[in-house]
Amino acid sequence: MKAAKTVFVCQTCGAQAPKWMGRCDDCGAWNSLVEETPQDPSVSAAVAEHRYARATGTLARRYADVALADAARIGTGIDELDRVLGGGVVPGSLVLLGGEPGIGKSTLLLQAAANLTSSAGPVLYASGEESEHQIKSRGDRLGVGDVPLFLLAETCVERILEEAARLKPGLLIVDSIQTVFSMRFQSPPGSVGQVREAATQLLFHAKSHNVPTILVGHVTKDGSLAGPKVLEHVVDTVLYFEGDRHHTHRVIRAVKNRFGAVSELGVFEMTGTGLQGVANPSMLFLSERAEGTPGSAVLCCIEGSRPFLVEVQALVSTSVFGNARRTAVGIDPGRLALLLAVLEKRAGLHLAGDDVYVNVAGGMTVDETAADLSVVAAVVSSVRNRPLPPGTAMFGEVGLSGEVRVVPQAALRVREALQMGFTRIVLPSAGATGAAAAAGDRDRLVGVRTLAEALDALLA
Ligand code: TYD
Ligand code: MG
Repeated sequence: MKAAKTVFVCQTCGAQAPKWMGRCDDCGAWNSLVEETPQDPSVSAAVAEHRYARATGTLARRYADVALADAARIGTGIDELDRVLGGGVVPGSLVLLGGEPGIGKSTLLLQAAANLTSSAGPVLYASGEESEHQIKSRGDRLGVGDVPLFLLAETCVERILEEAARLKPGLLIVDSIQTVFSMRFQSPPGSVGQVREAATQLLFHAKSHNVPTILVGHVTKDGSLAGPKVLEHVVDTVLYFEGDRHHTHRVIRAVKNRFGAVSELGVFEMTGTGLQGVANPSMLFLSERAEGTPGSAVLCCIEGSRPFLVEVQALVSTSVFGNARRTAVGIDPGRLALLLAVLEKRAGLHLAGDDVYVNVAGGMTVDETAADLSVVAAVVSSVRNRPLPPGTAMFGEVGLSGEVRVVPQAALRVREALQMGFTRIVLPSAGATGAAAAAGDRDRLVGVRTLAEALDALLA
């Protein structure tokens, strides 16, 4: 088959070029040219007519007359995955699961695929990365039995869709979108043009046949989906798999969801027999904590609608070199710099000649300002070389003038900490009364208004 003629289109200004160039001649943008198939005018007229023919008969409807279509969801049999999806897979939806290599995307999807065969019917698992034998040997470890699960080692998207048309699966999985290519383009698999074309074809298939489709996407070191940021606009739901490959626990986060809440979190543990959901993440994150060591604070944070406790650690040591280092793992380095400046000005702590390292234990990432109080407490505890009192948890935002500010959902955080057996919770005083009323335990709450009050309560 003769390859279709393609052009390279600048994604910034729309200029066209016959070949790829590093820099657009027109607008000067770098690396903005993407291969596309030019529209044949006769074809596009036909397409337009066809679209119009299908569109006639659609009339604008009054808001009140539109019925609520409660999308029936298909449970994946994995509670933590259902939670991030917003209750299960929606028929006809396109889901993108991103994550670094080796984090467990294929493992999770194979587990989900095997479970879904009972509720959704046959499942087609197309893999461009592994052979059927490799997938089968993994499935054996995961305990996948004789279920209507079909494996296809194929990278051509047209072939995958042919097989899908033949098997009529209840779910289609493509692992990964970067390995598949369309015959209509010459550029190699993984290039932006290819990825977008393949995803668009899969999207049309998903919508027109009402087949939910899950795409696996690789993520580069800097955390973006390799090349195809465009994909995030195409799909209905974007899930990110996070976590340290060297730790056993993994977190899935929804960053976009047309059918549910974002920033929901699913927590998993990688075991010898695949990924297992963790119903009580606080227990997991606190399991290795050495109580009574200086520089360790327990934070009640919230991800989505879910509270859990994590350990924030700090180490302050005299700097050997002229310029002191500040290293933050799991929290924003800019936020750490700000908090250290507040400590310097408002609490009289001199850290200019010290290296400061802050780490959220277990490879978790916390991006709430509610973490401020725990960071500050851990740093001061390390400087004074005194542990925080046992059984103490905390949360609260620290402002530039040293005030402790209210953070949302105090009651939820308090309840989780009490449930985990913490006996003293330091929190912003403005939220303390409400939280106490909701949690029904006034004695264990210590409301603080300022940084000085907080440090008194924690390290007096
Ligand atoms: P994988 O799903 O292949 O990652 P991805 O598709 O995201 O690249 O996960 C591979 C890792 O998981 C690999 O290092 C081995 C580990 N693993 C387990 O620890 N237990 C298991 O039961 C399985 C199947 C894999
Ligand atoms: Mg894989």
